[in-house]
Amino acid sequence: MESTPVESGRLLIVDDTPENIEILGELLEEYKVFFTLDGEKALEKARIDPQPDLILLDVMMPGMDGFEVCQLLKADESTKHIPIIFVTALGDSTDETRGLELGAVDYVTKPFSPAVVKSRVRMHLELQRARRALANQNQLLEVTVSERTRQLRGAFDRIRHSSHETIVRLSRAAEFKDDDTGAHVLRMSHYAEAIARQLGLPAKECEDLLHAAPMHDVGKIGIPDRILLKPGKLDSEEWQIMRRHCKMGADILAGSDSDVIALGEVVALTHHEKWDGSGYPRQLSGEDIPIVGRITAIADVFDALTSKRPYKEPFSLEKSFRIIREGRGNHFDPAVVDAFFAVEKTILAIKDRYQDNTVSHLFQVADPPN
Ligand SMILES: [Fe+2]
Repeated sequence: MESTPVESGRLLIVDDTPENIEILGELLEEYKVFFTLDGEKALEKARIDPQPDLILLDVMMPGMDGFEVCQLLKADESTKHIPIIFVTALGDSTDETRGLELGAVDYVTKPFSPAVVKSRVRMHLELQRARRALANQNQLLEVTVSERTRQLRGAFDRIRHSSHETIVRLSRAAEFKDDDTGAHVLRMSHYAEAIARQLGLPAKECEDLLHAAPMHDVGKIGIPDRILLKPGKLDSEEWQIMRRHCKMGADILAGSDSDVIALGEVVALTHHEKWDGSGYPRQLSGEDIPIVGRITAIADVFDALTSKRPYKEPFSLEKSFRIIREGRGNHFDPAVVDAFFAVEKTILAIKDRYQDNTVSHLFQVADPPN
């Protein structure tokens, strides 16, 4: 037997006394009411979909009593969320207390007070609705969070991709050329970073420069070995060819949407420009030369001076420092020279740390940021 539903809300009434069911059914006729006379059937009906939104449960019943029914409903994952209102005899506070301890949300007493029954039922149905809305909202939030996580993971993957791209490009260059400069790019990129920090460049730019500077000579893969690896001095025609490595490097790195590679492009193109405009390939001067180019110029030259090359033995530190100092204001930006000497100790520590036999550190240290 079911009453005609008027208001939303499904009520299960469990009572072994048909008169009580009749009274409650009439009082609550605006809801969709269904009932049962015994506890075991109540357990079944509570599980049937659509489940009741609220259960009115009599305490005293033959066989399985209300307390047992309540315990079983609360122990079952599929029914424990359904609020239960106990129906107790007036003045029996022991039953009321026990019912609440077992997980019931409320109780109503017999004989029924229509206003109290209606009010309690309405309140608990509203509470139940609010709980559901909250659960839905939480679910929605979880979906949003998982979507954001997915987007972040995508961004992370793109960064990983560009890191990989950097390594691939560098490896490609390394494949073509001699191994001697492996430690060179390590040292000069760390010099460049130390100078950039001393100059007060933003932290991200310093970090990017550390990873971009190793690409400064990537264009040398386009220079024939007979010139690049020539033990003696280059003649004028050979120099013309050698100078093309800046533009070639920039072309290799051009068009990337990775900040590091884009910076590598600038470094490759401008690391042989000179403060007084006598450099190459575009004869830029002063602050027309991007700061990363001015920094890399010093880092590159200092390391070349202090390293063994096919055409020379390493210069002493004293001589190398003197050449850098003499280049202040003509070859090099004076401010960058000053910054270089301000971090002289760091420069020397880097020089000691990355000796020519530390090439294996290349990818470990120069690995772009994730
Ligand atoms: Fe170069």
